[in-house]
Amino acid sequence: MNTKEIIDRIATDHFAEKEDILAVIQDNSNDEYLFESADRVRREIYGTDVFIRGLIEISNYCKNNCLYCGIRRDNREISRYRLTEPDILLCCDTGYELGFRTFVIQGGEDIYFSDDVLCSIIKKIKEKYPDCAVTISMGERSEESYKKLFSAGADRYLLRHETSSKEHYEKLHPEEMSFENRMKCLKTLKQIGYQTGAGFMVGSPYQTKENLVSDLLFLKELEPEMAGIGPFIAHKDTPFRDCKNGSLRDTLVMVALTRLLLPHALIPSTTALGTIDPKGRELGLKAGANVVMPNLSPVKFRKLYALYDNKICMGDEAAECRKCLERRVESAGYKIVTDRGDWRA
Ligand code: 5AD
Ligand code: FES
Repeated sequence: MNTKEIIDRIATDHFAEKEDILAVIQDNSNDEYLFESADRVRREIYGTDVFIRGLIEISNYCKNNCLYCGIRRDNREISRYRLTEPDILLCCDTGYELGFRTFVIQGGEDIYFSDDVLCSIIKKIKEKYPDCAVTISMGERSEESYKKLFSAGADRYLLRHETSSKEHYEKLHPEEMSFENRMKCLKTLKQIGYQTGAGFMVGSPYQTKENLVSDLLFLKELEPEMAGIGPFIAHKDTPFRDCKNGSLRDTLVMVALTRLLLPHALIPSTTALGTIDPKGRELGLKAGANVVMPNLSPVKFRKLYALYDNKICMGDEAAECRKCLERRVESAGYKIVTDRGDWRA
């Protein structure tokens, strides 16, 4: 079977064997066909709708020490900040005015954000904006904690698996972090009833083509409602400072294959993709992504939340980002919609 036929089959069956995926990854002569197929599958379910999520980066304190991440514990080169509850609510006010109906509360694993502190924030947002979805992205927590946040009103949780290979996971993370716990957290989140997001970096150090294949098969098996996929980008104050960045092509191929395997998924065209290429986010949308997550964090804290180098939109107010994205999304042939943008069955 040639690559085009393999792509056709994955687009119809939403299922693939290892060998199929590997063949598509290795043959770049049909990339355009792959992206068009992913776009067609996305349009069948979501039309040209692009959902926007207002990202609020509430803290760059982190007790973890992931080798790739700019806000890792051992990075002494950044000053640390955390937003207060009133700060966060102000971000939501701005976001709501601009048409955001999902707020993503993201941060490092900061022990200050206990269950009580987070639950209070979630309740306040939901009280003020009952028509909005709240997504939490605060890393690994206990089952009890995930349950409390859910009861407080959190609708969704983002926790990328980062890599589906235990061996690879251990090369990206310090010894005290465990692959098993990451997997356990993801299963717990789904069980509790969150719309759950998993995902991985493309081109991270030590990653093989086989790892990428298994990342896709892992997503297929977990069936998360959301899948975040972006290129690895080196950060100068991490052990991976000299490592090569992930490529645009490989990231787009992963996004497109994810769309074929999970036609209903909400897939962001990531800021990291926009960072490695000026047209990265537009290309991501054309390869099957249907979500963008601009920043609502106060501009004065933006540069302190650098997970990787040269991150875009550092100086742009939320309103500017919103306009800029509107243009970019339309130039790619899609339309931003003002609604919660829930997963469609
Ligand atoms: N390059 C790209 N993505 C990164 N992330 C963290 N550090 C980097 C980096 N150097 C991603 C991780 C994490 C998400 C919040 O950001 O996948 O889950
Ligand atoms: Fe932030 Fe373009 S999306 S300035």
